[in-house]
Amino acid sequence: MHLPPKQGAAFDPLSEAFARDPYPAYAALRATAQPVYYAPFDIWLLSRYADVQAAALNPLSLRSLDHLMSADEMAEERRAQNWHDMPFHARFVQFSMLNADGEVHQRLRKLVFREFTPGQIERLKTGVATYVGGLFDRLGGPFDFIEDLAAHVPGLAIGRFLGVPDEDCPQLRGWSDDIVQYFDIDRTDARKALAERTTKTFYDYLTDLSKHRRRHPKDDLISRLIARWDTGELSEDEYISTCMLILMAGHGSTIDALGNGLTALLRFPDQRLMLSADRTLMPTAIQEMFRYDAPLPFFHRYASEDMEINGWELPKSTKIGLLYGSANRDPEAFADADTFDITRTPNRHLAFAAGPHFCLGNHLARLNMEAVFSQLLDRYPRIEPVTEPVFKPGLSLRGPKSLPIAVR
Ligand code: HEM
Repeated sequence: MHLPPKQGAAFDPLSEAFARDPYPAYAALRATAQPVYYAPFDIWLLSRYADVQAAALNPLSLRSLDHLMSADEMAEERRAQNWHDMPFHARFVQFSMLNADGEVHQRLRKLVFREFTPGQIERLKTGVATYVGGLFDRLGGPFDFIEDLAAHVPGLAIGRFLGVPDEDCPQLRGWSDDIVQYFDIDRTDARKALAERTTKTFYDYLTDLSKHRRRHPKDDLISRLIARWDTGELSEDEYISTCMLILMAGHGSTIDALGNGLTALLRFPDQRLMLSADRTLMPTAIQEMFRYDAPLPFFHRYASEDMEINGWELPKSTKIGLLYGSANRDPEAFADADTFDITRTPNRHLAFAAGPHFCLGNHLARLNMEAVFSQLLDRYPRIEPVTEPVFKPGLSLRGPKSLPIAVR
């Protein structure tokens, strides 16, 4: 079947209603049972589980079409996307394993893959739990779960994972926030300038740290990557961009996952009480938190050749939107998809994608979630929302900006 005419749907991911609750809009997209054109991004959105999964797994779906462009076309494309005045950001953030395809992607992913195994991540467990305990100890009375707690968690875990000294970890959050401002829907020149400045600051920091680690290697990812840079397995730019990707991919997403997880526990108090009473449910509860409200609900691919997704013909160069957040609520894939059920098994959600770019950091995200939710439930038998959470706007990120709670 050919794609329908490019007329699009009444779909407004920039609206306040969508930020509050995107799921009715996703349900409406799924009901059309066809790819839907979304003009502002010049993209065909896939919203049903079967379609999103098929597109993510299809080897013809790529993250970029660079290999189809001449150098001039590529330069023109970058000018159009306004990259030309962001040399550091363009060099280290806009090119990374996440945006690479084929052999380059496989090589970069293979270099770090073993670092992310459950066994490696487990080594961080005690340190993260102790640190999270210290954060809880500082709290009293009502507090904002996002600003006062969740926002401080991923920096330490990612910093230790990379090999950043503990005393430098708190600044990682600010750097990550600044650098990803470039991707915001309401990007301004001032935000772009901030993203560029901070990328340069982070680059300078990593360069200094690398000089030190080269002289005094440690048992950490930075030291191991430097050794591979020295043997020519990756370039300096690839080394820096891999470190930056790990920081950015894991930071805001984990904060949002914590916020979404608590929002779900507050909306479904029976599930919270069940989890409080039976902590063996923690792994399936965390898995359900990712499904129920995916922190990164949208990514794109391109059709590198004419391709077919469940009967729909997508011509070469078509830009495809993978709505992971919608796929995770598809009733054809999950019974009672809009119900938060911490015992749900199997739970093959797409919050961490599928296929070659499947999230490397999912075990680290789980470790952070477990540290926070087990201690939250240990310390406070009663948790009440003070106000309704206000969610970030847009299609790419899903998470509360603040989540004030009263605890006893
Ligand atoms: C709840 C938290 C997280 C969520 C929801 C999440 C989600 C995702 C998704 C959906 C992708 C694939 C993007 C695509 O389809 O193109 C991805 C890739 C990636 N994630 Fe995560 N992520 C999380 C946490 C982390 C953490 C903690 C780290 C590392 C410290 C991390 C590192 C990565 C990396 C390196 C990639 C790129 C993999 C590749 O391109 O091969 N993520 N993540």
